[in-house]
This record gives sequence, C-alpha cells and structure tokens, in this order.
Amino acid sequence: MNVLDTEFLKGFAKLANDGWLHNFHERNGGNLSYRMKKEEAESVKECFNAKEWKEIGVSVPALAGEYFLMTGSGKFFQNIQDDPEANVCIIEVDDKGEKYRQVWGLKNGGKPTSELPSHLMNLEVKKKIDDKYRVVYHAHPANIVALTFVLPLTDEAFTRELWEMITECAMVFPSGLGVVEWMVPGSMEVAIATSEKMKSYDAVVWAHHGLFAAGEDFDFTFGLMHTIEKAAEVLVKVKSMGGKQQTMSVKNLKDLAKDYDLVLPEKFLK
Ligand code: 13P
Ligand code: ZN
Repeated sequence: MNVLDTEFLKGFAKLANDGWLHNFHERNGGNLSYRMKKEEAESVKECFNAKEWKEIGVSVPALAGEYFLMTGSGKFFQNIQDDPEANVCIIEVDDKGEKYRQVWGLKNGGKPTSELPSHLMNLEVKKKIDDKYRVVYHAHPANIVALTFVLPLTDEAFTRELWEMITECAMVFPSGLGVVEWMVPGSMEVAIATSEKMKSYDAVVWAHHGLFAAGEDFDFTFGLMHTIEKAAEVLVKVKSMGGKQQTMSVKNLKDLAKDYDLVLPEKFLK
C-alpha cells in the first residue's frame, strides 16, 4: 500500500493543516510525530527505502523497533497537506532505542524535526503509561506564549488560571499542565525536562516558545492544543480588560470533579 493512501497519513496531514489554519505555525514553527501501529508499518513496508543509521542523542529503549511518521526539520506546516512526501518522513528506531534511520519521505532531502529527541522521549514516557498514546504535537500558539511573559512559570499557576477560563478545561486536561523554563530548542536538556513533566501531564508549556501536547489520536491531540490555546486567549482578553472581577471557585471545581468523575490533583485546588 502507498503511504499516501493510508488513513494515518491523511489524519496526520489534516492535523497539520488544521494547525496552520489556526495560526499555530508561522514558517516552520512546530512539529508533529505519530507512533505507527505494527500493522500500519507492515502495510507500507514495500514503499520503504532505508537510509543510514544516525544517533538520536537520547535513549528510548521502550520504542525499539518501532516506526514513526514525523515532520521534517525546516518544513512548513502549510505545505504538508499539499505534498506530504516532501515535508514528512517515516523513521525506524533501532533495536536498542539509540539510533534511527529514515525509511520514507522527504523526497527533496532533509531530516526529521530538530525536536526529534523531545518527540521520542515524550512518546516513550506516554507509551509506558498507556500504550494507546501515539501522537505528540508541538506548536507556537500566540496566547499561550504571551502568558509565559506574565504568569509565574509554575504548573500550579498555568493549570489553575486556564481551568478557570472555560468550564470544560478541567474535563479536557484534568491532570493539569506542566511548565518548563526557557531552554535551547532541540536540546537534550529540553527533551529530558519535557518528558519528565509528561509523566504527570498531557501538555507541557515551553516558556517563551510554545506548547507540547500528547494524545491517543490526531483529534484528541489537536483538541487538547486547541482547548489550551483558546483558554489562554480568554485569559489574555480578561487581563487586557483589567483582570478578573469574578471567577470559578475551588468549590466550583470540586463540584465539577464530583459530577464528572474527574480526579483533579489537590495541588491545583488551593
Ligand atoms: P523544526 O523545523 O526543526 O521542526 O523546528 C521547529 C520548531 O518549532 C523548533 O522548536
Ligand atoms: Zn518550536
């Protein structure tokens, strides 16, 4: 089967285009990865043409032997749906989880996203928690980035402020949001810090940069990114209008948790 005809490639390209249309991706900003199912990799193996093995830079033994669809470094999200084969690739991780090789895509040349270490470490952390997690999405939405200049850079501040902005936020990200301070993009350091936060959360804010979101499929992962950015937009508007005059109380959040069976961490209910 041709990779271009698969449902997973179509879902990947649709998310990329939705992200572009929502203004989450200036130029080559952002990147996306998908941990392919065994049968999906099997179904397209005849299209593979393996290149040389390269170091990942970090170790992801729990992903050994798996295949990943991901954006190419420097490629623009706006071009993915029109020409996936020029802008995305499939990589294979070796049997130790230390090297990768490109097996499909980037037909005009290129390499996987510079955030490859973050994507693979996050996918590994999530797989260990629950095998259903398959998607990691990084974007540069303006409002969440703007908030990293005015809110304290803590999980508590971001989670609580954004939960309060739209009632359904606590249902969409009940475990909360992680925040990592400014770090060099593409570095092992930021990959390690983000994956550490991914042990507790499905979304991690990168100060003065953007957001990482993880989920089981393209819809849920895009929906998480979209919900967080929309809540951030409401907060930016509220702050621009002079700040909150009233808001959801701790009791409101606890009532919500009770009726909707949410487990909201106590540290966000102070
Ligand atoms: P890439 O083009 O290498 O994916 O980098 C974009 C980005 O957002 C880095 O954080
Ligand atoms: Zn980025």
